[in-house]
Amino acid sequence: MRTPRRSTAPLAFVVTAGPTREFIDPVRFLSNPSTGRMGFEVARAAASRGHRVALVAGPVSLKTPKGVARVDVVSARDMLAAVLSRLDDLGRGPVRVVFVATAAVADWRPAECAAVKLKKGAMRPVLKLVRNPDILKTVAERRAAEGAAPLLVGFAAETGDPVAEALRKCREKNLAMVVANDVTEPGAGFGTPTNRAALVRRDGSVRRLPLMSKAALARRIVRECEDLCS
Ligand code: C5P
Repeated sequence: MRTPRRSTAPLAFVVTAGPTREFIDPVRFLSNPSTGRMGFEVARAAASRGHRVALVAGPVSLKTPKGVARVDVVSARDMLAAVLSRLDDLGRGPVRVVFVATAAVADWRPAECAAVKLKKGAMRPVLKLVRNPDILKTVAERRAAEGAAPLLVGFAAETGDPVAEALRKCREKNLAMVVANDVTEPGAGFGTPTNRAALVRRDGSVRRLPLMSKAALARRIVRECEDLCS
């Protein structure tokens, strides 16, 4: 498929992808079914348009796209540290930075991770959880304080009409755009090669896209980012 020529200067993308794992003990964890496909496609699309790309990936079994610098992480806290370090590196340069958060980050983690495997009999039926950092929100707040704001793009995977929720998220997390999708729709959501999404901008404009491959949606997202940065 032909991609329209890029009319903007090259950008630097930091993309998160995949799930995170939050360990209970060395052999048990909390996670979710994210495969990382959407984020890897965004990274691939950005690199193929000549942008610099750092991909921070949770545990997934996907090949690194050509031209992409990949960092593998496990937990939400690892992911946050890797993202902040990449943003710090790229933020020093003259190039505009775009942060695209596609990762399905676990919102909670066990309050404690046992050093050794818990015996079945020693496990309690109630697991105490604590909140994980919200990576996107942390980046938004830090950057606002430092004045060097990257363009922020989030994802909203909802069950039900996701547009209202996306708009709320855009404003709450100070995002330029949210890619919203209903994960219960056929062909959309975790593990599928396709997605049906709406692009929701902070100004309230909504573009509902038809069902398309995640690769095509990724190209579309990258072009929207170019447009928002121009
Ligand atoms: O609030 P919610 O989890 O639905 O927001 C989804 C967006 O926030 C996604 O872009 C996701 O990658 C990001 N997120 C994050 N850190 C979290 C939770 C969500 O970066 N702990």
